[in-house]
Amino acid sequence: MALFRWREGMRVGVSRIDADHQHLIVLLNRLHYLSLAGADAVARATVIDSLVACAEAHLQVEQAMMAKSGAIGLDRQRRAHQAFFERLVHYRTRHRERPERFDVGAFYDFIADWLLMHVMRDHTKLKAHFTA
Ligand SMILES: [Fe+2]
Repeated sequence: MALFRWREGMRVGVSRIDADHQHLIVLLNRLHYLSLAGADAVARATVIDSLVACAEAHLQVEQAMMAKSGAIGLDRQRRAHQAFFERLVHYRTRHRERPERFDVGAFYDFIADWLLMHVMRDHTKLKAHFTA
């Protein structure tokens, strides 16, 4: 599991969006370090809750920006966001129910893979709308 690092090529050019993406990466890596340090489930839960809250707010902001800019594909994007968010909440539930069996590495990879695709694919398509 390689640490996910912010790169300039990921910059969308909308300060709120870029700040959210960077914050998600910070939270994800914090979870990794907590795991390495052998932190307890309460400490991990705090970070996972923050990840869920940050992701939820981010997706809502993006959908509002898409709607406002008239970007095509809003319904498809909403469905994709919903599917991601449901998996994210499912991970949180699993952690709450059985933290001792929670696979931090799988969770990390899930978020990192999504974030990379989200930024490089979704935002590449939306960049023109968001920065117009
Ligand atoms: Fe985004």
